[in-house]
Amino acid sequence: MEIKVIVGNIAEVEAGAIIVNFFEGTPHLDGDIATIDKALDGVISQLINQGEIKGKLNEITIIHSLGKLPATRVVITGLGKQQELSQDRVRGAMAETCRLLQQKGIDSIATVAQGAGVAGISPESAAQAVTEGALLGVYSFRRHITKEAEHGEIKRLTIVGSDGANLPGLQRGSDKGRVLAEAANLARDMVNEPANYMTPSHMAEVAAKLAENYGLELKVLEREQMQELGMGGLLGVAQGSRQPPKFIVLHYRGGASDEIDMALVGKGITFDSGGISIKPSEGMAEMKGDMAGGAAVMAAIGALAQLKPKVNVVAIIPATENLPSENALKPGDILTAMNGKTIEIISTDAEGRLILADALGYARKIGAKFVVDVATLTGACHVALGDICSGAFGNNQELVDRVIAAGAEAGELIWQMPMYDEYKEQIKSDVADIKNVGGRYGGAITAAQFLAEFVGDTPWVHLDIAGTSMSEKERAYLVKGATGVPVRTLVNLVLSLAQER
Ligand code: BES
Ligand code: MN
Ligand code: ZN
Repeated sequence: MEIKVIVGNIAEVEAGAIIVNFFEGTPHLDGDIATIDKALDGVISQLINQGEIKGKLNEITIIHSLGKLPATRVVITGLGKQQELSQDRVRGAMAETCRLLQQKGIDSIATVAQGAGVAGISPESAAQAVTEGALLGVYSFRRHITKEAEHGEIKRLTIVGSDGANLPGLQRGSDKGRVLAEAANLARDMVNEPANYMTPSHMAEVAAKLAENYGLELKVLEREQMQELGMGGLLGVAQGSRQPPKFIVLHYRGGASDEIDMALVGKGITFDSGGISIKPSEGMAEMKGDMAGGAAVMAAIGALAQLKPKVNVVAIIPATENLPSENALKPGDILTAMNGKTIEIISTDAEGRLILADALGYARKIGAKFVVDVATLTGACHVALGDICSGAFGNNQELVDRVIAAGAEAGELIWQMPMYDEYKEQIKSDVADIKNVGGRYGGAITAAQFLAEFVGDTPWVHLDIAGTSMSEKERAYLVKGATGVPVRTLVNLVLSLAQER
């Protein structure tokens, strides 16, 4: 989709559809929509009077202009009550509108900077939201469908500002929105890709492409180097699979010093069968998405390399399959992680924490100042928070607050979970330093407590995205399948850190 920002009068723009907004409870029409209403001989005011256009959030009305305007159609998208408007509502409304127009085969659209000047939303934020909403909303994953789609794609989106003074802001907002949405869509592609394509080696290839395109440094550790570093957790999980494990490290250098300001760690299980503690077959296919955390941190660092904040960031992705075989890890086995701690395996299905133990150990070893890990870690987190919020766990309240704020800005909801020491009792082992399962109750928390053992005192936040990485249905700018959560949160987080120095 080509996206252009211009200054002008939307009523004069030629396109398959022009989009204007209507707020619930607006007493009379003025501005763009009034001009358009006049050109259409008052049909909009008539529809409002008849109650067909109410302005409810995501209400979409399509009117054909029948030659009365340069544009073929006028689309009126409801944005709800003015005082309740947010950047995220604009994102969602734009996504739903674009999806509908795309289904109708309309390939060029123009829109006002929806929400600009309302409820504290700047023209820049509005243009960002409109761009993000459009790109996220029309996303689809059709790589493996050989039949041609029933409709084409929206090829051109023009954002029309009315005041020339706002043009630079609108352009900046739209550019940032594009980088963020494309990154989220890259993560979606990786997660939607089946496990026979998205192997650990393929993840490393995607990393290589990002490195080449955006000038990141890439290091991929092979089994031998994992052995040298003593990565017993990752090697233990990988030993049941034919696919060679990869430990992927991408380095973005935007800061003046050599210090690593932030390490983003992402779980990269390209398929989680459970291993010897095998999962029931129903729903197992979903486990192709068990690398969503890894995909998210890769996409996020790619976006950062384009936005160029003045900080240094490392993305770390331990990648392997979790499969049963004669060589596989067994319940009762004891592994030694990179930091020397021994782990009793209760269930080979609690594998994410084993590979993250080494990735967090690595982040600590390279001296990262802050660490955020992202993982589809526990079904328990899905049960606790549904598919609306990701769970946040941490050892540093300031960092937790920053992550939650970065998420709010992205419209990616995050809820903090407790980390009381009392929960540690559940992961004590009789035969090793720690065990990998802490029982049924509080499963998301004991998993986080397990991870905490490997970060020491480095400020750290763990995001459990088991519930939020996939969506069962279309909802605002989410489509069925991978969501791309929390790519935009991670980028916002790093940008906010960079702004402080
Ligand atoms: N990858 C799963 C968690 C998961 C479940 C992600 C559902 C997305 C949707 C993880 O490796 C796992 O199997 N966790 C176990 C842990 C248990 C054995 C302690 C779980 O949640 O059942
Ligand atoms: Mn598992
Ligand atoms: Zn898993």
